[in-house]
Amino acid sequence: MTNRKEIHTRVLNATSKEELATVYGEWAEQYDKDLIDEMGYVAPAFASQVLLEYVEDQSAKILDAGCGTGLVGANLHQKGYRNLEGFDYSAQMLARAKDKGIYSRLHQGDLTGKLDLPENSYDAIISVGTFTCGHVGPEAFAELIRITKPGGHLCFTVRDQAWEEDNYRIAMDKIEKSGAWHRLEEKTTDYIQQEESSCNVCIYQKTANI
Ligand SMILES: C[S@@+](CC[C@H](N)C(=O)[O-])C[C@H]1O[C@@H](n2cnc3c(N)ncnc32)[C@H](O)[C@@H]1O
Repeated sequence: MTNRKEIHTRVLNATSKEELATVYGEWAEQYDKDLIDEMGYVAPAFASQVLLEYVEDQSAKILDAGCGTGLVGANLHQKGYRNLEGFDYSAQMLARAKDKGIYSRLHQGDLTGKLDLPENSYDAIISVGTFTCGHVGPEAFAELIRITKPGGHLCFTVRDQAWEEDNYRIAMDKIEKSGAWHRLEEKTTDYIQQEESSCNVCIYQKTANI
């Protein structure tokens, strides 16, 4: 039995990928119960809702980047979306995602590096809870854009604390100026209600002609 407050603090303060993967490995079994039942983690439901306002085709091929145990996939699956793939660094989190039986493929890898996935291959990317302190930063956008189909959508949350620290606005505007994507919507919503944290839910569209 893990102490959820302690393990969440360790997640937010991990200083290396290896340390972060170890902590998620320990948390995987109890993650859903702690975050959903006890802590009020509402970001997966909010972000899924935002994505689905733009992606109406239930056969859309969607990558859940940093899928963890599959909370986002479960939301999408419940709404009838069936062409779902997951990507995560942690083998134990991926094992829990596999148990849910909602992803057609699961990939293990590092979102901060080159992704072993073909370009222009997903109708949409969704990433919730992964652009956050000590996890993944704006450097991951380039690869996520590469694997998205022209005209496809990218929807992600950025935790409030990380937004300023990691200069998301500057990084995202720089990509927009380059012509690779354009912003459709951005809204601030609750993230984890028990800790009164918030996040920005952002949705971008990859430019159709690149
Ligand atoms: C807070 S969890 C979010 C999981 C899920 N999206 C959700 O909302 O419940 C963050 C996830 O990001 C994964 N992660 C962290 N750094 C990563 C990286 N560099 N590459 C791939 N996944 C990473 C972790 O293993 C963990 O499963």
